Amino acid sequence: MQLFLDTANIEHIRHGVRLGVITGVTTNPSLVSKEGKLDYRRLVQEICSVVPGPVSTEVLSQDVSGMVAEAKEVASWAKNVVVKIPASLEGVEATYRLARENVKVNFTLCFSVNQALLAAAAGAAFVSPFVGRLDDIGEDGMRLVKDIVEVFKNYPDSIKTEVIAASIRHPQHCIEAARAGAHIATVPYQVLTQMIQHPLTDIGIKRFLEDWQKVMGATANVKH
Ligand code: E4P
Repeated sequence: MQLFLDTANIEHIRHGVRLGVITGVTTNPSLVSKEGKLDYRRLVQEICSVVPGPVSTEVLSQDVSGMVAEAKEVASWAKNVVVKIPASLEGVEATYRLARENVKVNFTLCFSVNQALLAAAAGAAFVSPFVGRLDDIGEDGMRLVKDIVEVFKNYPDSIKTEVIAASIRHPQHCIEAARAGAHIATVPYQVLTQMIQHPLTDIGIKRFLEDWQKVMGATANVKH
């Protein structure tokens, strides 16, 4: 499973890429707004220059021609731009039109298998089931990821749409997304940093250092 970073914060993105584990980024209007009032085109281009893979940016228009025009404009800013189109009928038509013109679409705000099927049929490169938001209303968000992956696997020759587990809220979601067979999980920066944490690792590092220093003193074990 690939890991994307779910943020528009350039410092967090730089760090994730430096770690060598982040292959893409997803943003949305709320995440971009968190960064304050800014030059959107510049931000998208900067993120795209830092990230090796797809960078999702969301359209604001809700009608087909508006979505298509907005998507084409943003897609012209950098080669790795992917355009997020919402799961509406207008979104399906816009996805179909954009896919025919080789603009990659991330079909977003997906809350059902049927929405995912329509995304795939229209030619979306990615579909993003929102796990956390379904959990928030008492449903099983990861069940949706599992179901979409299972259904897509029945059609390996015709469905090439990749499943992005989105709206990830905690490290357990990452494990569950990988178990479910999601191609990608897009994780907030905080979750990325939580993924490495384990108290026994911290205790182990501390104890190794203490044992070493008791005998060898405060020196490194190799000269450099
Ligand atoms: C990513 O594509 C989504 O926009 C994002 O994961 C939504 O996360 P949230 O439900 O925590 O806002």
